[in-house]
Amino acid sequence: MDIVATLENLVREMEERLARADTLEELEVLRADVLGRKGRLARIISRLPGLPPEDRPVAGQAANRIKERCAALFGERRSALLASREAEALAGFDPTLPGRAPWRGSLHPVTLIADEICEIFTAMGFEVVSGPEVENDHYNFEALNMPPEHPARDMQDTLYITEKVLMRTHTSPVQVRTMATRAAPLAVIAPGKVYRRDSDLTHTPMFHQIEGLMVDNGITMAHLRGTLTALVRAVFGSRTRVRFRPSFFPFTEPSAEVDISCCLCGGKGHHRGEPCRVCKETGWVEILGCGMVDPAVFSAVNYPDNVSGFAFGLGVERVAMLKYGIGDLRMFFENDVRFLRQFA
Ligand code: PHE
Repeated sequence: MDIVATLENLVREMEERLARADTLEELEVLRADVLGRKGRLARIISRLPGLPPEDRPVAGQAANRIKERCAALFGERRSALLASREAEALAGFDPTLPGRAPWRGSLHPVTLIADEICEIFTAMGFEVVSGPEVENDHYNFEALNMPPEHPARDMQDTLYITEKVLMRTHTSPVQVRTMATRAAPLAVIAPGKVYRRDSDLTHTPMFHQIEGLMVDNGITMAHLRGTLTALVRAVFGSRTRVRFRPSFFPFTEPSAEVDISCCLCGGKGHHRGEPCRVCKETGWVEILGCGMVDPAVFSAVNYPDNVSGFAFGLGVERVAMLKYGIGDLRMFFENDVRFLRQFA
């Protein structure tokens, strides 16, 4: 029966052509040619109904057998090609190597310190408030007892936008904004960016401050001292000593600057036999300015005469430098990941 012989030939031919097909694309062409809907096998099968009835069962069985055989051969070749393609792609790779761990971001040291300080104050009952970085003369100077001719307004320090609009030079305007909209008693802190026309080793045109303000009946310098001592000990450790030095700010009276015992040398003035570079051998480092709110500030916000309060303003970069032993202010703003990752 020549139809059975034709089918057997087809298998042999398929075997030969499969062996020569090196790509999945060639394989697909071959599959369509032999096994496709209009392929060679389909055409042979379409001749079956024309055979004499007694030949049909044998031819039909042969056709089915050949069809399965071809499909199996095709499947084998396809698996082999896929496996070698994968092996090629993996050549030179060690698939058992562990993956590369993704980099995790970390908070900036300035953010870490600001958050830590805010948490210390909120635990003491202070509320976090904020104000604009683009400020006007009234809040930044006038209401803080700095009239137009005051030296603190010097063009050298302040970044002006117009004659009356400027980048705030400190967070103290938030004191005024808070008192202008809320009655005493209040206890707030205001973290944020401040701007000064200043740029050298220890100054950047933008840096961060945290302002503090507490107003009530009977607030005294003792409250200020207690509060700031608690802050310093929470941030720098319970053995840190605190010193108040008389100073001057137009918006506080009396005013003080607060020093803490040097975190590098522990207040001794020398470290590992060398003069201490952090405190310049004095044993103390300055961390903030503070004082009792000046009556002129209270009257600018129409507060009654019977209240008193304290305020302070602290430099966040300064605290971060002291706490983490960072020697160069510029590191905070260079965004070198080798520096930043140490705080992860
Ligand atoms: N605003 C002052 C400064 O930037 C700091 C300060 C705040 C001083 C509050 C006293 C009271 O230097």
